[in-house]
Amino acid sequence: MNGIKGIAFDLYGTLFDVHSVAARCDDAFPGRGREISALWRQKQLEYTWLRSLMQRYVDFEQATEDALRFACRQLGLELDSRTHDTLRNAYLQLAPFAEVPGTLRELRQRGLKLAILSNGSPKSIDAVVSHVGLRGEFDHLLSADAVHVYKPDHRVYELAGQTLQLDRTEILFVSSNAWDATGARSFGFPTCWINRSGNVFEEMGQKPDWEVTGLQGLAALFE
Ligand code: 2OP
Repeated sequence: MNGIKGIAFDLYGTLFDVHSVAARCDDAFPGRGREISALWRQKQLEYTWLRSLMQRYVDFEQATEDALRFACRQLGLELDSRTHDTLRNAYLQLAPFAEVPGTLRELRQRGLKLAILSNGSPKSIDAVVSHVGLRGEFDHLLSADAVHVYKPDHRVYELAGQTLQLDRTEILFVSSNAWDATGARSFGFPTCWINRSGNVFEEMGQKPDWEVTGLQGLAALFE
């Protein structure tokens, strides 16, 4: 990790478990929670990519709400406005993965600058990290909203270097989303893929520089 001075983390799925909303989905639609949350997440991502290609940006909350409505319709579930609001708000109160708070502190103690670089809106990113008391661990919260296009568009990755005032080769990009790690590697970030579920990496001509099974593995790379 010679030469790395800062780390830019993806938020959803990397630091916070998006499927922690499954329990709320299950309260609303018993027995269907995992199914709803999986389709919801998949559509949320697709809508961000499609909107980038179509140059029809809406913020991440809007894309998330649109995806929720689609998922419920596709699964034949009636989404009333109260359930809609409850589930939408669940996305602002995600649970971090267990090792995240301790590892962030450890990385900060090593003198690294820490940032989040997410497709989430500034309001969502702030709400998610503040809800669990982690706001103070980050020097910067960076949102794709600043450039009105979503990762993996290079303009989003560029925000990290501009804000941290570091060259891209000095910033380690960390994501558990293989598509995001692919985009970051293509942009030129040294990249660490957090592979918690034993997934295979994308076949798009890019490979992460490091692959670990959790954030502890990331901290170990700096020892
Ligand atoms: C992010 O946080 C959507 O996981 C993606 O940017």
